[in-house]
Amino acid sequence: METKITEIADGIYRLSTFVPDIAPPAGFTFNQFLVLGDEPLMFHTGLRKMFTLNSEALARIVSPEKLRWIAYGHFEADECGAMNEWLAIAPHATAAHGNIGCMVSLNDFADRLPRVLNDGDVVDIGGGKRVRFIDTPHTPHGWDAGVIYEESTGTLLCGDLFTQLGNSSALTDGDIVGPAIEAEDLFKYSGLNPEMGTTIRALSKLMPKTLALMHGPSFSGDGAAALCALADDYDRRMRIAALSNVKAA
Ligand SMILES: [Fe+2]
Ligand SMILES: [Fe+2]
Repeated sequence: METKITEIADGIYRLSTFVPDIAPPAGFTFNQFLVLGDEPLMFHTGLRKMFTLNSEALARIVSPEKLRWIAYGHFEADECGAMNEWLAIAPHATAAHGNIGCMVSLNDFADRLPRVLNDGDVVDIGGGKRVRFIDTPHTPHGWDAGVIYEESTGTLLCGDLFTQLGNSSALTDGDIVGPAIEAEDLFKYSGLNPEMGTTIRALSKLMPKTLALMHGPSFSGDGAAALCALADDYDRRMRIAALSNVKAA
């Protein structure tokens, strides 16, 4: 396996590792994102078992010991499994996550005290980069779920939202909604809930220019339209689920 690096927006780097054995024959990508400022921030730690791969890749952009912030979407191995390995090689780094995430997992899991982020909190990491934390509870899964929006580039680091199979390209302006619907049909990875469409539609108000997918290419284009289309599909799934529950009652 190798980790490929692509600058997907000004100063935002995608570190992508393709694993052909997951969901063959298409395979599956795991992507970390580095937001380069005076205080570099990494979104997702990657799997513990991919730490060597990811840390060597990061070192091609910036010395890992210079990392200042380590954030992630929700508490799962691919999102934050290697947290303590990163904290060990980056002595000035602080883990950062939302209230719920810190309360239920990170306060205990992280080897150093994390920074608690409230919904909407902005961290100025210097170099013109400002990252905003947004709570997205249970969307696509996890009570602690959240995303990060980098204001200067209009980049939404959207974690597992829009998950897709394959390894087509690092950056696309093509359809990312159809492949996300296919992956949801296959994996059923979302914790389908009545607020899900509303939560995703609210992100469209940011009018992001780039959507950075944890599992898939980064998307450059009308991020609001893509988010609204994804929200519509989850509303459709909720209506079908509600109707089948009524019929079963
Ligand atoms: Fe996840
Ligand atoms: Fe993930």
